[in-house]
Amino acid sequence: MCGIIAYLGEQPAYPRLIKGLKRLEYRGYDSAGVALVDQDIQVFKRKGKVSNLEAFTETLASQTGVGFGHTRWATHGEPNDVNAHPHLSNNARIALVHNGIIENYASLKATLEKEGFVFHSETDTEVLVNLIQAIQDANDLPLEEAVRLALRRVVGAYAIVVADKREPHVLVAARKASPLVIGIGDKEYFLASDATPIVEYTNRVIYLNDEELAVVRKNGDLEVKTLANVPLTPYVQELDMKIEMLEKGGYDYFMLKEIYEQPNTLRECMRGRLNAEEGWVRLGGMEDFASRIAHAKRFIMVACGTSWHSGLIGEYLFEDLARIPVEVEYASEFRYRNPVLTEEDVVIAISQSGETADTLAALEIAKEKGALIYGIVNVVGSSIARLTDAGSYIHAGPEIGVASTKAFTGQVTLLSLMALHLAHQRGTISEPRYRQLISELAVIPDKIKKVFEQDAKIRYIAGEIKDRSNALYLGRGYNFPVALEGALKLKEISYVHAEGYPAAEMKHGPIALIDENMPVIVIATNRSAYDKIVSNIQEVKARKGMVIAIVPEGDSVIQTLADYTIEIPETEEPLSPLISVIPLQLLSYYIAVFRGCNVDQPRNLAKSVTVE
Ligand code: M6R
Repeated sequence: MCGIIAYLGEQPAYPRLIKGLKRLEYRGYDSAGVALVDQDIQVFKRKGKVSNLEAFTETLASQTGVGFGHTRWATHGEPNDVNAHPHLSNNARIALVHNGIIENYASLKATLEKEGFVFHSETDTEVLVNLIQAIQDANDLPLEEAVRLALRRVVGAYAIVVADKREPHVLVAARKASPLVIGIGDKEYFLASDATPIVEYTNRVIYLNDEELAVVRKNGDLEVKTLANVPLTPYVQELDMKIEMLEKGGYDYFMLKEIYEQPNTLRECMRGRLNAEEGWVRLGGMEDFASRIAHAKRFIMVACGTSWHSGLIGEYLFEDLARIPVEVEYASEFRYRNPVLTEEDVVIAISQSGETADTLAALEIAKEKGALIYGIVNVVGSSIARLTDAGSYIHAGPEIGVASTKAFTGQVTLLSLMALHLAHQRGTISEPRYRQLISELAVIPDKIKKVFEQDAKIRYIAGEIKDRSNALYLGRGYNFPVALEGALKLKEISYVHAEGYPAAEMKHGPIALIDENMPVIVIATNRSAYDKIVSNIQEVKARKGMVIAIVPEGDSVIQTLADYTIEIPETEEPLSPLISVIPLQLLSYYIAVFRGCNVDQPRNLAKSVTVE
C-alpha cells in the first residue's frame, strides 16, 4: 500500500526513481510523484499511473543523484495531484514521502494551524512534513534530529523518506509498521518499500526494523539508529531474487505469468521438504518448536483475503489428517475481539506480502497472550516473517499481479506439508495413506500442467459469460474454500459481483438468485460428495441457471447436465484445491481481459495492505 523508492549516489536519480516506481506500482496507483534534491528541491507529481508522471516530466533534464518517489494508494484525501506525494513543508525546504497512516494527524494539524501553518492537501503526510519543519525552526536542528523528534509525537504507521535542501547530500528514512528496505550498491544507496526496485542494482540489503531511523550520505556513510538515538549495527542480507522474476516474460499480464508459474513454484515450495521415494515430509521451520507444535491444543489461522481462503483449506487438512482443532479467523476481526488464547495454542499467520497490517496486529495480540506464532509467508524478510517465532516461506517468488494466484497454491502446499507432517508425528494417519498423499503431492505440479491444456476452452467459456453481472460459485468440503477463492478472483479483477457458497447451502437462500442470467460455477471433483453435487447441479438446471462444472477427467454424468464442463486431472481429495483452483484463476483472468479491465492493477486495490 503505497510504494517508496529513494536513490542517493553518483548516477542521475530520476531514471532510477521512475523505473523503481514502475516496479512498485502494484502497491498503489492512485498517483505518482518524485522529489529531486539539489540546491533546491523540485517536486513533480501527477494523479494516476507512473506513466502520467513520466509524460509530465518528459523534458526534465535533472542530473542530480539524490531524490525519491512515491506511488500512492489513497487513504486521506482523494487521488489527485495535490494529495499526491512528495509533500513539501510550508517553507519549501523539506520534502517527504510516506507510506502508512498518521492516526493523530488531526490534533497535530490543529496545533500547527495555530502556529500559522497552511495546508494545501487533505493528507496526513503534509502534517508530518510541517511538524518536522516546526521542530526544526524552533530549535535550528539538523534534519535527522528534527525527524526523530517529530516521530516521537506521531501515533500510527509510517515508512518515510525525507530530504532537506539545506542538506542536499543526505536522506533520512524511518519506519514503524510499514516496510522499508535499504539497498547498498557501489557508492550508492536505495531506500524502498520492498526489494523489487533494488534487485537490479544490488543484492545487499538491510531491512529496517520498527522505530528505527536510517541516514544515508553522499560521502558513503550509512547510520542506523533507534528513535531514541541509540546507534545500531545493521544486519546486511543477500537477496535471493532475480530480475527476470520481475518481468512479464512475454505474457500480457503478470497474473497470467504467475498462473502459469505454478507448477514450478509448487516444486520450489516442496524442494527439500518432501521426498516421495523415501516417503517423508519435513519442514525445517517446525523443528525448533516440534514438541510444542505437535502437542498444540488448537491451531488458529489468521489471515486476510485469499490467504484467509488458504487458511480455510488448512482447517480441513489439519482436522482431517492430524485431528487437531482449528479455527480460521479474519485477522481484522481477531485483533479487536479479545480472543481467548493460551500458551497451548499455535497461531498460524498466512500472508503473501508479510506486511498486511491486520495480520501483523493479530500476531502482536497472539504474542502478548503467549501463543506460539508460526508464519506462512512469501516475501522474505517481511515484517510478519520477522515477527513470528518460527515459520516457512512458500518460495513462490515475487507475486506482482494484485490478484493472488501462485501465493495461494504455495500456501495450500505448505499447509498440506504441515498437516501431513503433524499427522505422521501424532500417529493420526496410517503409513500407507501418508505415503500415498506424499506421492500424490509430488505429482501435483504435473497435474496442474495438464489443466493448462484446457486454457483455450476456459477462454471460450469466459467469452460466453463475460457480460453477465453476477456469478455464483459452489463447492463442497475441501472445495468450498476454492469456491470462495474463485468468486473473489472474479470480483476483484473484473468487477463482476460473485459469491462463493457451500453447494448444499444454496437451497437456504442463494437459490432464489438463479435464473437464466446467472452463471453457476460448480466445483464437482470431490468423489466423496459426487452424487450430492450432481443433485445440486440438477437443482440449478431446473431453475434455468447456466452451469459451468469443473469435473474429473473422463466424467460422463455431469457432461450431460452442465452447459460447459472443464475436465481436470483427479487427485486425492485433500489435495484437490491445488488443481481445482487453476481453471477458476484462468476463467476470471479471461473474463477480466474480455471486459477490458487492467488485470494486474484492478481499481481501488493494492497488493500489500499496510493500513487497517
Ligand atoms: O499479503 P497478504 O496475503 O497478507 O494479503 C491478503 C489479502 O490482501 C490478499 O490475499 C488479497 O485478498 C488479494 N488481492 C486476493 O487476490
